[in-house]
Amino acid sequence: MPVLVVNVDHIATLRQARLGKEPDPVTGAHLAELAGAHGIIVHLREDRRHIQDKDVELLKTTLKTNLHLEMAATEEMQKIALHTVPHMVCLVPEKRQELTTEGGLNCLGREGELKEFLAPIKAKGIKTSLFIDAEKEQIEAAAKIGTEYIEIHTGHYADAQNTEDQQNEFKKIVAGIEFARELGLKVNLGHGLNYHNILAFAKVPGICEYSIGHSIISRAVFVGMFKAVQQMVNIISQFVS
Ligand code: PXP
Repeated sequence: MPVLVVNVDHIATLRQARLGKEPDPVTGAHLAELAGAHGIIVHLREDRRHIQDKDVELLKTTLKTNLHLEMAATEEMQKIALHTVPHMVCLVPEKRQELTTEGGLNCLGREGELKEFLAPIKAKGIKTSLFIDAEKEQIEAAAKIGTEYIEIHTGHYADAQNTEDQQNEFKKIVAGIEFARELGLKVNLGHGLNYHNILAFAKVPGICEYSIGHSIISRAVFVGMFKAVQQMVNIISQFVS
């Protein structure tokens, strides 16, 4: 059965908007665990725009499930991964100007370099994943690198502007999953998945984990809005007039 791993980056995005203490992504992660999430994902970006180093440390020491660390293949991040020892490291491409991860990691021609980068991480017993597009060449390169998992980028599928494009992207992902499994890779999916577009994957076999953040945090704002306003109205209604 596939499982859900919740990305809490955008709780931190909200906190960093005021550079304060709330909302705390670590508390959000604990609630996600209580609700049944199989694990928690954070992307520690080079520019620290949302998740901070101390969040990663706190998550590692307080989570009862698994911490997944998304990161760029840099020396700084490698050090942090080796120090933190998360359950899984997923390598992602990173550009400073992008709003979010824009596409899969290009593994072609980087097989040796990425294999070497992951070697000390694997030696620590950390599971590894590569976030890649559903392209045959990328999947073959990932297999050569020797990662246990790949995460197929579902962003093009999620962003498709019409049904035909979306169906084409869906077919590419399904073919990618099949090909990866033939090569012995385990497959996760992520990026842009929401309460509607995820339904297409219900009958697709061989998916280990769904990595979902933005749509869950977005929905959390609205399912919590009613209670949050009610609680403030209750406080103010007891004030002197
Ligand atoms: N997987 C990867 C590799 C990502 O970079 C992200 C976004 O940080 C996600 C999954 C989650 O995407 P979303 O927030 O759109 O659900």
